[in-house]
Amino acid sequence: MANKTLGVRSLREELPEVLREVKETGRPVTVTRHGEALATIVPSTVVAPERAPRILALNSLKGGVGKTTITMHLAAAIAATGERVIVLDADEEVSALRWQQHANAENLSLPFKVVAADRNSLMRQARELSKDGTIVIIDTPPNNREILKSAATIADVVLVPVLPTAMDLDRLGTTLELLADLEAALPQFNYAILLNRFDARKGMAHEANAALDHHPRFSTVIRSLAAYEKGFGTAPSELAQFQELWHELLAVMGGDA
Ligand SMILES: Nc1ncnc2c1ncn2[C@@H]1O[C@H](COP(=O)(O)OP(=O)(O)O)[C@@H](O)[C@H]1O
Ligand SMILES: [Mg+2]
Repeated sequence: MANKTLGVRSLREELPEVLREVKETGRPVTVTRHGEALATIVPSTVVAPERAPRILALNSLKGGVGKTTITMHLAAAIAATGERVIVLDADEEVSALRWQQHANAENLSLPFKVVAADRNSLMRQARELSKDGTIVIIDTPPNNREILKSAATIADVVLVPVLPTAMDLDRLGTTLELLADLEAALPQFNYAILLNRFDARKGMAHEANAALDHHPRFSTVIRSLAAYEKGFGTAPSELAQFQELWHELLAVMGGDA
């Protein structure tokens, strides 16, 4: 598609408006004089908005791997960049919703909203919520293949948390098999493993880290922090590792990494 053009004479008056448009649409505008191209104003972000992930899903058939903890902290980290974020809680145990309820009860407002997923229309709901540019993060239950499939199908990126233990690595196989099956059916499918509760003092953590290199994975690892254990019902504040994760997600989706 040809770039939009703008005569150099109009530039003085229209520049603020043009810059806003370039930033919002991600489409370059070419400045012309006597119909000839002089220069092009391009967005400074590495990721064109249409390529930024809008729907993320936290998926694992195994429970206790950090899906809800990561969902809530990643949501807070993304919200801190100025994006609108919604968490869609598809777990019948509604841990994310309860997290929000506790926070509200203590007047600790979260920088994003958590809403209950309707299991029969999860994909439509996620699509609808993301339509205005809101980033939707879907938290899912363990041991539910149907929800895992729906969430993974609608997501731009699937994050698969895994703990650095031999048992968790062993159990990872069933989740990956399910995702590989979806990958065969979908024209576009992105998933990556996210090592969680990494503790550099433990030998097994390093072994697990090395073992994951045979799979699609995030190079960002989430360390084990007491702040995450205590974070339930509070506005997540320990965000550095999740900001790093968000940057990695943007770079990957933008084809930059
Ligand atoms: N990186 C981490 N550091 C410390 N504790 C963590 C971390 N990730 C998860 N936890 C703790 O592990 C437990 C299970 O995490 P949770 O997010 O509920 O997992 P899931 O949603 O996959 O069942 C919770 O008590 C949580 O506080
Ligand atoms: Mg959970």
